[in-house]
Amino acid sequence: MAAASSSSSSLPSSRPFSPPSSILIIGSGVFGLSTALALARRDAFSQCSITVVDRSDPSQPGTFPSPDAASIDTSRIIRADYADPAYTALGDEAQVQWRKQETPADLGAQGRYHEAGLLLVGDLAPPAPSAAPASGGLKPKLTGLDYARMSWANVVSLASKDPALAARVRELPNPDAIREALGTGGSSGSWGYINNNSGWGNAGAAMAWSFDQVQQTGRVDFVPGTVVSLERAEDTVTGAKLSDGRVLSADLVIVAAGAWTGGLVDLAGQAVATGQVLAYMDITEAEQEELGKMPVILNLSTGLFIIPPTDRVLKIGQHAYGYLNPVTPSNPPLPLSPTSATTTQTQTPTPISLPLTALTDPDLNIPARAAADLRGALREMIPWPALHDRPFSKTRLCWYSDTADADFLVDYHPHWRGLFVATGDSGHAFKFLPVVGDRVVDCIMRDCPVQFRGKWDWKVTTESTWAGTGVAAFTEDGTRGGTPGLVLAEALGERAVPLQ
Ligand SMILES: *[C@@H]1O[C@H](CO)[C@@H](O)[C@H](O)[C@H]1NC(C)=O
Ligand SMILES: *[C@@H]1O[C@H](CO)[C@@H](O)[C@H](O)[C@H]1NC(C)=O
Repeated sequence: MAAASSSSSSLPSSRPFSPPSSILIIGSGVFGLSTALALARRDAFSQCSITVVDRSDPSQPGTFPSPDAASIDTSRIIRADYADPAYTALGDEAQVQWRKQETPADLGAQGRYHEAGLLLVGDLAPPAPSAAPASGGLKPKLTGLDYARMSWANVVSLASKDPALAARVRELPNPDAIREALGTGGSSGSWGYINNNSGWGNAGAAMAWSFDQVQQTGRVDFVPGTVVSLERAEDTVTGAKLSDGRVLSADLVIVAAGAWTGGLVDLAGQAVATGQVLAYMDITEAEQEELGKMPVILNLSTGLFIIPPTDRVLKIGQHAYGYLNPVTPSNPPLPLSPTSATTTQTQTPTPISLPLTALTDPDLNIPARAAADLRGALREMIPWPALHDRPFSKTRLCWYSDTADADFLVDYHPHWRGLFVATGDSGHAFKFLPVVGDRVVDCIMRDCPVQFRGKWDWKVTTESTWAGTGVAAFTEDGTRGGTPGLVLAEALGERAVPLQ
């Protein structure tokens, strides 16, 4: 059915690519900015005008990235530790860039990258029964421990190229070994490993660096504005309409709006916005000093993780199924095809999950249950009495664009001309900031990397795999903890958690 899916198995040369004369990228997150940079540097696009539109204005200090975007604050895990060797290889490529710190202009310089080590642990206990529906075409669900073991095998294989790298990876076969590697006195978990070739990156600073890189090409126009809908003529997308009524036109529109993408393009069966919980705690200088030595720890049985603190702020998060926020937007997204376009008015609009953030809802908090889980992780991973009951200074939801298999969605739209999507981050795209744009541009040029063909494609779905609800998708790659399908408003209704 989908043109893009069938093209993935054919030779790229069978569909000659001719560059458009103008490209509009919607979104200046990881996908949008890295794609803009790769386009600006690629000869094939030297005659093409490139525009990026985003609701945050990068020229205004403090507003970029938008404070409710995904790639903000000071820490993201940077790893090649993946169960899927295709992402291990891409992560390895990215780390070559992250490790560069000779000059201030290098990505890893000025504190943007810290190779603090990553401790991955899994639990032998069977995972909580999943409420996810049996999903026909999907791979079998991996447990956290399965994922950790596969990731271990990939990391060992990667490190075998170089004895220096290999010496920095060690299996942790029991709780005592895990406790020793963590160094905070905390532990448990049945099995894990430490990889000192992984670490964390400063998200906000790296996005600012990325914006500078794009600016330096002198090739890209940044337009501040909020896109409310895509413009179309017959079967072609021709541009985007902004909230102030302006219209930006282009031969090719690339929607890279992260968790907001579903509000512009009908992504039923492809990706869904899920809110993931984070909490921040202020710590003392002495605590910073001590915790500054810990590795990143990610418990794959629960998805709970802690990143070493920066500037006396400790961050605790959960990479989980997350919360859905089903809403019926006043501007419906672009329908799946031009033919379904004519019938939308007569149909009841389907609710879609879209981000709810503190920017539009200043009193927004995280559900009490989630806050309790974050605190539980803190107590287990850093069992220091002084931290046990210290209030969180801030909590927030970070919105992912989740696909069922955690593969990105980077493809031409199967039914609309002039439309490309680069989204489906599934909460693990940030580390690829220095390399993913080039791969996106390969896909734009219909030369998607072999190892991602099929994976990054727009998926052929049926009503039965998607149940027509637009919100029923659960990421089952083995990295997610918690319970699938929780609805944010219901979870908040139980009891909003006070900060103090
Ligand atoms: C990882 O780094 C920590 C801190 O430098 C060190 O104590 C530990 O021995 C290292 N582990 C491995 C396997 O290299
Ligand atoms: C990981 O989570 C499991 C399941 O809740 C728990 O039993 C285990 O102790 C945790 N491990 C670590 C190191 O936090």
